[in-house]
Amino acid sequence: MRYDASGGIMEKILNAVEFIKQKTAQYEYSLPDVAVILGSGLGNFAEKTENVFEISYGDIPDFPVSSVTGHKGRLVLARFRDSSETFWIMQGRIHYYEGYQMEEVVFPVRVLIKLGIKKLIVTNAAGGVNRDFNAGDLMIIRDHINMMGTNPLIGRNLDQFGDRFPDMSNVYSKKLGLLLKKAAQEISLHLKEGIYTGVTGPSFETPAEIRMIEKTGGDAVGMSTVPEVIAAKHAGIEVAGISFISNKAAGISSDPLTHEEVTENAALVEEKFSQLMTRFISFLLERKDG
Ligand code: HPA
Repeated sequence: MRYDASGGIMEKILNAVEFIKQKTAQYEYSLPDVAVILGSGLGNFAEKTENVFEISYGDIPDFPVSSVTGHKGRLVLARFRDSSETFWIMQGRIHYYEGYQMEEVVFPVRVLIKLGIKKLIVTNAAGGVNRDFNAGDLMIIRDHINMMGTNPLIGRNLDQFGDRFPDMSNVYSKKLGLLLKKAAQEISLHLKEGIYTGVTGPSFETPAEIRMIEKTGGDAVGMSTVPEVIAAKHAGIEVAGISFISNKAAGISSDPLTHEEVTENAALVEEKFSQLMTRFISFLLERKDG
C-alpha cells in the first residue's frame, strides 16, 4: 500500500472506518471512547475481556498487517463482564521496521480516532536503560524522545486531524498518569516512571547507543509507540503510556538480547499487567466525561 500526495490516505482511513462501523452496527453497544494498543507479549489481556466483536487486521480494507511473532493482529471491541461500556483493543501493532511507511504505521490509530476515541492507551515492551529498572518492571511513560529519524506527520498535513505544527509539550496526560498510579496502588503494584526513547530497530542498540540514550535522558528504549502517540496528539487525543521492561538494555546487562527474551519475560508480568489494565480502563469507563 502506497499513499499518493493527493489525498488517498484520508479516503482509505474513512473506508476502513465505514467498514468497521457496518460490521459492528448489529451490536447494541455504542462505539468506545477508549482504545488500548497491546504491545509485544502483552496481548493476553484481550483473552480476559468479553469480546463483543473481533476482526483480523487483514480483513479490514487497507489495514496493514503485522508480521512479528507475539503479535496477534486483531481489532477487538471489548467490555468487562460486569459492564456494558465497551473499549477497543488493538491486539498487536504495526512497526516501522517491518518496512511500512510511517503513514501506514499510524493508519490504525487514525481509524480509531475517526471511530470516535478520545483516549488512547499505548503499551509496549522496552529495554531498561535506567539502571534502577529490572526485567519485569512496568513504567508509566512520562514523555518520549523521538530517535526514529522521521515523523509520521511528514507530508501533506491532514487538516481533518489537526494542525501542521502540533504542540507536543503535554503529550502524556498527567490526569491519566495519576489514574494509572491509583490503579497500581489498588493492586499493590509499584510502577516505575520515565522517558521512552523510540528507535526504528530492528537491530537492538549497541552499548554505545544505549549510553547516548541514557545521557540524553531516556529511561527505556523501544521500537514502537512514538509514531502512534504523535498521530494521536496531532488529533488532540489524551494519551497514557506504559512500557513493560522486558530486559536490561544492551551494555547495562552483558547478556545478548533476543526477541524470545522479550516474549518470555512478558509471560511473567502478564497477570500483573492485565490486573492493572482492568482497573485503569474501568476508571476511564466510569468517568466518561473525562
Ligand atoms: N531495545 C529496543 N527495543 C526493545 C528492547 C530493547 O532492548 N526490548 C524490547 N524492545
